[in-house]
Amino acid sequence: MSSLSFLAIVLVVSAVAAKMPIFSWDTVPVYSHLCNKTGPFNDAAIQVLARFPLVTIEKGQEANVSDCCAEDKILAAAKQIKAVNSSVQVIFYYNSVLDWNQYRLHAEFLKHPELWLRNASGDPVRIPGDHSFKQPKDGMLVFDFSKQAGRDFWASDCINATKTGYIDGCFADRSGEESFRGTTLSPETAKAYAKGHDQVLQDLQKSLGDNVLVANNYLLPGVSSTMIEGFQSKEASILQLQKAVSEKKLVEAHAGYHDSCKNITNSLAAFLIGAGEYSYYGCSSGWYVDETHMDWITWHPEYDKPLGKPTGPATKEGDVYTRHFASGTVAMFDTKTNTGTINWAK
Ligand SMILES: *[C@@H]1O[C@H](CO)[C@@H](O)[C@H](O)[C@H]1NC(C)=O
Ligand SMILES: *[C@@H]1O[C@H](CO)[C@@H](O)[C@H](O)[C@H]1NC(C)=O
Ligand SMILES: *[C@@H]1O[C@H](CO)[C@@H](O)[C@H](O)[C@H]1NC(C)=O
Ligand SMILES: *[C@@H]1O[C@H](CO)[C@@H](O)[C@H](O)[C@H]1NC(C)=O
Ligand SMILES: *[C@@H]1O[C@H](CO)[C@@H](O)[C@H](O)[C@H]1NC(C)=O
Ligand SMILES: *[C@@H]1O[C@H](CO)[C@@H](O)[C@H](O)[C@H]1NC(C)=O
Repeated sequence: MSSLSFLAIVLVVSAVAAKMPIFSWDTVPVYSHLCNKTGPFNDAAIQVLARFPLVTIEKGQEANVSDCCAEDKILAAAKQIKAVNSSVQVIFYYNSVLDWNQYRLHAEFLKHPELWLRNASGDPVRIPGDHSFKQPKDGMLVFDFSKQAGRDFWASDCINATKTGYIDGCFADRSGEESFRGTTLSPETAKAYAKGHDQVLQDLQKSLGDNVLVANNYLLPGVSSTMIEGFQSKEASILQLQKAVSEKKLVEAHAGYHDSCKNITNSLAAFLIGAGEYSYYGCSSGWYVDETHMDWITWHPEYDKPLGKPTGPATKEGDVYTRHFASGTVAMFDTKTNTGTINWAK
């Protein structure tokens, strides 16, 4: 092999392998995760989304326009964003438990009753999801991960999405869940399901290579990324973030269920105390955007302030954590009052 063709191969391989999102300490690392129920994103929204290195499109994208298919709507949004900034990583949301009906995956799933999870009485398991999204009254079917065919079936939806070239990775909601309220699995199924639920995520990550797979609220060996959905300005969240960082995960810290997204000082300070390489911050009370819910398309002034690499881990004296950043910015968090202070470098 000539050294030139060797170089060409190395370049191709590294171009394919380098699929982590852009990460920088220069300013606060941030992400977005949203959907627009009533239609495609408008231009102003796309301009803001194009500034985030990492954007997940939720299941409710254009849900009010037609019943099917979320796959196509998420792809359309990815194309809109990439047209403005091709370095944004766009992540495909789907659920690793609930068979949300707006996906093409659901139409396919209906053809495969042998892949529906069944309870100890042999009835299909049906469970409800987040009621801010449209769903059948009796709940949704569940993918039977106790079976290889069930795992392959579910994983193929994400793999197909990434094959379009516009989707960089996937978000697996309800990762780690293995038992369901109101229904009992047989002991054998329960055991195989719990194992299979982890297995499907680990196998999917292998298929995706270095591309992002977010296991929501779950740290699983062999899966690169996680979201802390209920991140808040409390020491428990800081410790949770530090743990995920110590396991080398890409972490999306989602504040906003408990903290204000108008004044983000407290939750952002908590984030800065715990953040590591590939930790990203976001704040929202929900997952939709519209005229009154702008959280995910709000570029906070703090996002442009100078940060720089942390000079080291946070230190704790008494009740107060402190962390210094290369720019001179200092974040502090008081675990007694659950309030933060960020002294930004000029
Ligand atoms: C959501 O879609 C509607 C209908 O197309 C559009 O009018 C609105 O501007 C969109 N909102 C955002 C934030 O993109
Ligand atoms: C494109 O996205 C990258 C990663 O977030 C960012 O560094 C860059 O500034 C963005 N470019 C534009 C034009 O927004
Ligand atoms: C659109 O949203 C409205 C209000 O949330 C709801 O009443 C209506 O059923 C939705 N239409 C579709 C097609 O989902
Ligand atoms: C993924 O694509 C393959 C090949 O086109 C297709 O057979 C399969 O049904 C798709 N998976 C889903 C869940 O739609
Ligand atoms: C299985 O599901 C059916 C239908 O929801 C329910 O009536 C039955 O009690 C369930 N059995 C167990 C063991 O959970
Ligand atoms: C935002 O919250 C912080 C921490 O609680 C507080 O110190 C600051 O005054 C608040 N800023 C505004 C503009 O209200």
